[in-house]
Amino acid sequence: MTDRHDLPPGFRWGVATAAYQIEGAAREDGRGPSIWDTFTAREGTVRDGHTGDTACDHYHRWHEDVALMRGLGVDAYRFSIAWPRVQPTGQGAVNGAGLAFYDRLVDALLDAGIEPLPTLFHWDLPQALEDGGGWLERDTAYRFAEYAAVVADRLGDRVRSWITLNEPFVHMVYGYALGNHAPGRALLLDALPVAHHQLLGHGLAAAELRARGGAVLITNNLTPVRPASGSAEDLAAAEAYDTLHNRLFNDPVLLGSYPDLSAFGVSADLGGAVRDGDLELIAAPLDGLGVNYYNPTLITAPADPGLPFADAPIEGVPRTAFGWPVVPDGLRELLVGLRGRYGAALPPVTITENGCSYPEDLDDQDRISYLSTHLDALAAAAAEGVDVRGYFTWSLLDNFEWAEGYHQRFGLVHVDFDSQKRTPRASYAWYRDLIARHHTLHARRVH
Ligand code: FCB
Repeated sequence: MTDRHDLPPGFRWGVATAAYQIEGAAREDGRGPSIWDTFTAREGTVRDGHTGDTACDHYHRWHEDVALMRGLGVDAYRFSIAWPRVQPTGQGAVNGAGLAFYDRLVDALLDAGIEPLPTLFHWDLPQALEDGGGWLERDTAYRFAEYAAVVADRLGDRVRSWITLNEPFVHMVYGYALGNHAPGRALLLDALPVAHHQLLGHGLAAAELRARGGAVLITNNLTPVRPASGSAEDLAAAEAYDTLHNRLFNDPVLLGSYPDLSAFGVSADLGGAVRDGDLELIAAPLDGLGVNYYNPTLITAPADPGLPFADAPIEGVPRTAFGWPVVPDGLRELLVGLRGRYGAALPPVTITENGCSYPEDLDDQDRISYLSTHLDALAAAAAEGVDVRGYFTWSLLDNFEWAEGYHQRFGLVHVDFDSQKRTPRASYAWYRDLIARHHTLHARRVH
């Protein structure tokens, strides 16, 4: 039987984090305010009023965190760059101290034999841009491309690959449609221009990165969608949800067109947001698709009119502390489905996030089981012909889990948020041994 050890030679093992979730130092060295600073300062937005002001204090402890990664033996590290550290108001003037932080980090990673894989936008938009309308405004896409160029000018001599956006679907839905994430707007379907402007930002930034010799990926949060029954109503509902969650952000990038959104009463130009030439930019060839997978989604026909779908609970499977269903084979199903849908238009895939929150324990056997079963599913997808190039566990450290604050712990490394002490869990040693075994089996470098 295929298992995780059969993942191909040259496969990249990594861990992932994001700036607002780990850095802290929210007001240091000229960093401008981001929408997450504003959002977390508002009462009732985040569980127990937690904020990312200090988070894991990675801004000061990055040395220790790089050492933890060196100890793991990872090939690569996916982190994100805080736009408001680089451009405090999201445009124009560059903050040298902010850029210098990432410059030092990249050097330290390379010294440790770890490839840096930066994400340029992991949801922490400069507040000044939000004040002008944020991603509802087309102009934000152009500002994003400018920022990408600034970062690539500084780091592009050492960074080979870039991720433009993290999960534009989640940012649109939670940030602008429902409002449980920053910037906290609840516009429902009127949030759809946010999809197009993020994707346009991706396309414009991709051109800047490529012009500087970089390889470009985008990271989408994807879920295999299952209808609750074989009824025509459930099938139609599942198709509508699949279109919104998966196709809305994959089709433009991979096929150069938007999917049919008529089930949502939305026009093909997303309410006038799409202009001539945009889709050509968005569909410029990608070097890889980043896929974040956590769980599948079960969909039924809605009881009330409104949205053309409703969520249903997945029964009979274990759940993480977050309540997310644990369905490892969903990862294989998702990847094989992607290849079926996009065929030759699907670039090589990297799993840029996969992981789970469990209680604080250091002996986290549940996490080991989650990761090992998902890696077996990934190997099964590879055996079925999907070109998978890497896997990044979410996350290196327990960190600020957005609306859940510090309540959901996803780390291979436990963090005591009072003392900032880091303690590797059992899953850290397990992952380290797995990586070492894979490197040995395939005679790659051993750290
Ligand atoms: C993803 C986010 C990441 C993290 C995980 C648990 O949606 O990209 O920042 O919060 O979920």
